[in-house]
Formats: sequence, structure tokens, C-alpha cells
Amino acid sequence: MRKSPKSLIKQTNHGSQTRTTSTKSPFELKPKYANFKKVQASRPGFNSTLPITYTKNPDPDWKYGKGSSDTSGLEKGHIEIDPYEDGRPMISNYKLLVSGVPRPISFVSTISKDGTRNLAPFSYFQVVDHDPPIFVIGFSGRAGRLKDTMRNLVETGECVISVVSEHMIEAVNATSLDVPYGQSEWELSGMHPAPSSTVKAERVKEAVFSVEGKLLEMKDLDYGHAKLGKPFGSLAIIQATRFWVREDALGEKGEEIDLSVMRPLVQLGGIQYGRVRETFELPRPSLAMELAEKSSGLEVFLDLEEKK
Ligand SMILES: Cc1cc2nc3c(=O)[nH]c(=O)nc-3n(C[C@H](O)[C@H](O)[C@H](O)COP(=O)(O)O)c2cc1C
Repeated sequence: MRKSPKSLIKQTNHGSQTRTTSTKSPFELKPKYANFKKVQASRPGFNSTLPITYTKNPDPDWKYGKGSSDTSGLEKGHIEIDPYEDGRPMISNYKLLVSGVPRPISFVSTISKDGTRNLAPFSYFQVVDHDPPIFVIGFSGRAGRLKDTMRNLVETGECVISVVSEHMIEAVNATSLDVPYGQSEWELSGMHPAPSSTVKAERVKEAVFSVEGKLLEMKDLDYGHAKLGKPFGSLAIIQATRFWVREDALGEKGEEIDLSVMRPLVQLGGIQYGRVRETFELPRPSLAMELAEKSSGLEVFLDLEEKK
């Protein structure tokens, strides 16, 4: 059952009462380079016209039971890390997780209940189902004040999520500035608003793919932090109410978005981003077809007699 924005506000206020009010963030990220401009100047220019290329998959001769296509890693040991170990700073877990889990980036447009527009990026983001289409966004906890996007989502229950393409990234990055609540990031980003159909928040015209959505649930991720006086994160569960796809990116049947137009980015560790420029295709196996294809080698792994 959909929760009303009012009950969501209560739930979040309950959480925020226990949030610490210190203005010093435990989330200070030290710059990686002493002189980033110098490092950047030494690198080749960005080529936005490079085509999307296809290769074979890593091991086209792979057979059932073969395992990884590169077994050299088996000789290496693994280092066990307890994320809660005494003295391990929270920021170490942040750095480890973002470098270990590449993420698509959402660019979220919301409006506060008194009408101020807001734009901000979030890469703790995924589509988690298609029927109905459901998205999740993770808001990290911070001392003092909720993220404006989260506050607006809770107050109004609405947003537009755009998936970040290469041509948007500098403007998107600029909107991550922690400007005071009530100040819009639209102007400083230079992005253009376009009207939405089912929500008040506008969508980003420059985006290839945007999704209007309504908040189903905002779940406080408080599993003991509040008691310790520490800020905790929240998870927004959002149901899509409209899709918007740039006309030159949408396939004939209205089913597919062309990768060569979409050019999505992934966020990697630290300040690193990744392009999706080289791909391969790998058909998903079906049990009946794999069994029919004797050379697949699957049969020996299944106890087919027992199932007859
Ligand atoms: C590419 C990118 C991804 C980000 N992902 C997240 C995220 O997933 N969760 C989060 O809480 N903050 C994330 N941030 C930081 C927020 O964008 C930042 O705190 C911003 O000021 C929030 O804006 P708001 O207060 O207007 O909502 C990200 C920043 C960047 C640049």
C-alpha cells in the first residue's frame, strides 16, 4: 500500500530528531591530487564521437563447469575486512564500496513544498523491477540537515529521475554543491527544464532518458546509529509514472534506448567515472535449449533421472 507523504514526513521527522546537529561532517573527502588541473592538462581530450564497438565475449568457447575465463586470480589470497573494526573510519568503507561497486548516476529533480526547484545527483541508484517500474535511491546520512532532494521527496512525494549521459556530467557534478536549502541548482548548472506530465517537478531537457516518479516509501536506514547519536542514511523507493526518451534514441517499437545516443556514465571510485563504449553480447541460456545442445556440456551437472 502506498504511504501518504504525510505519514512519510512523520517517519522521517522521527528519524531526524535523533540526527546529530554538529555542522562538522565526518565525510570530508581529501583531494586525491595536489594539483588536479595539472594532471588533467596532461591527459588526452575527451572524444565524444568515438563509436560504440562490439567485441566477442571474454571466452566464446566457455563450457559448463569451466568457471572463470581467467584463473590466475585463484593463486592470490584475499584480505578480510571487518567494516565495523575498531578505528576503521566510515570514510574507508565509503571509498572501498564506491570503488568496488560501479553505479549508474541519477540526476534527480524535485520541488520543495513551497515551490523551490532542486537538482542533485545520486549514484546509490538502481531500477529494481519493471512491473511496476520501481527505482531506489540511497541518501547518505549527514549531520545537521537532510539532503534537499530527500526532504522534497518526503514533503511532496514526487520527483523526476534522469539517467546521466556523458554530455551532462559537468553540469550534473556542479549540482552536487551543497547550496543552502531553498536555493535552486537549475540556474548554476545551466540545464534546461521541460514540463512533466504526472509530477510538478520539471525534467531535464538535455537528458536522453528521464523517469517521472512518485515516492512509495522512504525507509530510514537506522540500524542502531540513532542510539549512538550518529547520522544514518535513507532509502527512497520510487514508482515510475512516466518515461521520457529522446526521439533519436528510442527504437521503433518504443522498447529500447540506443546506447550510442544514451551514452550512460557509471560512477567508479573516488572522482573517477567510466564510459560504456565497448560492449559484447551474451545470450541468456534457457534450460531446454542448453539440454538440447549436447555440446553445451550441461547435462553432466544435472540429475535428470531423479526429475523424470
Ligand atoms: C556523481 C555523484 C553521485 C552522488 N551520489 C550520491 C548518493 O548516491 N547519495 C548521496 O547521499 N549523495 C550523493 N552525492 C552527493 C549529493 O549529490 C550531494 O550531497 C548534494 O549536495 C545533494 O543535494 P541536495 O541537498 O540538493 O539534495 C553524489 C554526488 C555526485 C557528484
